Amino acid sequence: MQASTTQGGVFTGAFPAVRHRRLRRTEGMRRLVRQAVPRPAQLVLPMFAVEGSGVRQPVDALPGVARLSPDLLVEEARAAHAQGIGGVLLFGVTDGKDAEASSAHAPDGVVQQAVRALEDALPDLVVITDVCLCAYTDHGHCGLLDDHGQVANDPSLEVLARTAVSHADAGADVVAPSDMMDGRVAAIRAALDDAGHEDVAIMSYSAKYASAFYGPFREAAGSAPGHGDRRGYQMDPPNAREAVREVLADEAEGADMVMVKPAATYLDVIRDVRQATRLPVAAYHVSGEYSMVKAAAERGWLDERRAMLETLTAIVRAGADIVITYAAVDAARWIREDDQ
Ligand code: PBG
Repeated sequence: MQASTTQGGVFTGAFPAVRHRRLRRTEGMRRLVRQAVPRPAQLVLPMFAVEGSGVRQPVDALPGVARLSPDLLVEEARAAHAQGIGGVLLFGVTDGKDAEASSAHAPDGVVQQAVRALEDALPDLVVITDVCLCAYTDHGHCGLLDDHGQVANDPSLEVLARTAVSHADAGADVVAPSDMMDGRVAAIRAALDDAGHEDVAIMSYSAKYASAFYGPFREAAGSAPGHGDRRGYQMDPPNAREAVREVLADEAEGADMVMVKPAATYLDVIRDVRQATRLPVAAYHVSGEYSMVKAAAERGWLDERRAMLETLTAIVRAGADIVITYAAVDAARWIREDDQ
């Protein structure tokens, strides 16, 4: 019997000389040849900031996640940092909404306060801020509306840029625009540089799809649109090639990192983007992707630890350098315990 063959210059073996199970027999062998293992330092924890002190509001649809006032947010971030995670991504939640999203860029706005508290208490922690208008507009859309109730691209850029600068003024290390307006990376880069924030990086939500999996987040952030949906600016789920166009455009506009969102249901897009750019690629394991594992685990239908780690492993294997996940703290601990 032929023991091995060469196909197209690649050595391929044949049974019985080749037995794949040899490298799977013991944990020691598996550990030796293991490829994509998530590292705690590449995990980013999203956090929700509210006004006040001593405030902790658990989010029903996101088990394990709470909206926190700056004092408690600092304590949770401290614990997360101690687990070795790579950074936090901050969202603001406020009742102070209007048509122009003025509270998005208020110097004493909720995110700005939280960033200041974090920078004071944990100067080594990487603080990323989400830049969007949906949590600050009374209509809940990610940009300003024109007279016909449509989201107006160009007038929104100035407000987004001003918001990013206010986050940088407060001490953010990275700003992450998630609005999906065209041209916002260039507008934000120019505004940051004008304000002397040349060193503040931009992580662009480049390929952000109009996804059903954002449902639990909208409960957490109080950011569901009052009318219509986000399909006029977020990407259409069937389109993968368009993700590469978005990424290359953001790279040309000055993005330092690009993102694919959601992650677990868009692994092909992560792979395409990984191959199209040399920038770090982030992937956002979004609220619905997290909560469905938590919900199934609560019912005893899935093993939470294994299902969550397998999901994060798949995202890293697809090519993500950074994974944003509500499971970051647990995952960092599990990864260290497993010592892979
Ligand atoms: C803001 C924003 C959203 C998410 C991140 N930034 C919601 C949306 O676009 O409706 C979703 C995050 C998640 O589901 O975990 N535009």
